[in-house]
Amino acid sequence: MVISSSLSLPYLARSRRAHCGSARKLRAIPYIDSNPSRRPAAIEAGKQSFARFGCVGCHGLQLQGGVPNPNSQGGEVPSLLHASDDYTKEEVVKIIQNGKVPPVENTAKPAAPLYMPPWKSVLTDEDIHRIADYLWSLQKKKDAW
Ligand code: HEC
Repeated sequence: MVISSSLSLPYLARSRRAHCGSARKLRAIPYIDSNPSRRPAAIEAGKQSFARFGCVGCHGLQLQGGVPNPNSQGGEVPSLLHASDDYTKEEVVKIIQNGKVPPVENTAKPAAPLYMPPWKSVLTDEDIHRIADYLWSLQKKKDAW
């Protein structure tokens, strides 16, 4: 019995070290991702509005865009994953408030059927800012490609 308990000691020491290591890693995750406490709730609310008010119908559930929009520049509703390459967050808030008609590819052809509707009479400023927070939480920088 004495022999077997002394044999188990190195094992216990090892397993305790392993346990401490993984506990440290687990604690590090929320620390790295830390945000002001109301931010995750705002982002979640923005995500809900994005789905509820039909933004997904044109821009897609993953913000990927790609719905055909003949005679608009690019020929498709744009992805919103790279909006921060072209706009500040305040500019995006303004686009959502006021809408945006896509420039046509060929002026001899009919205008593109899909345009960005204005939302300021539908959504509150707070809703729109939360949608912008949601969009910003998913931005992919061109450099990261
Ligand atoms: C009927 C389709 C449609 C719906 C619904 C729609 N959009 Fe758009 N949206 C567009 C089109 C088309 C453009 C491109 C306008 C342009 O090229 O000038 C656009 C542009 C944008 C842009 C600017 C992106 C860029 O690269 O120019 C943002 C931001 C945006 N939409 C957010 C939203 C949000 C948020 C909602 C919901 C509240 C929404 N859109 C709903 C069609 C739509």
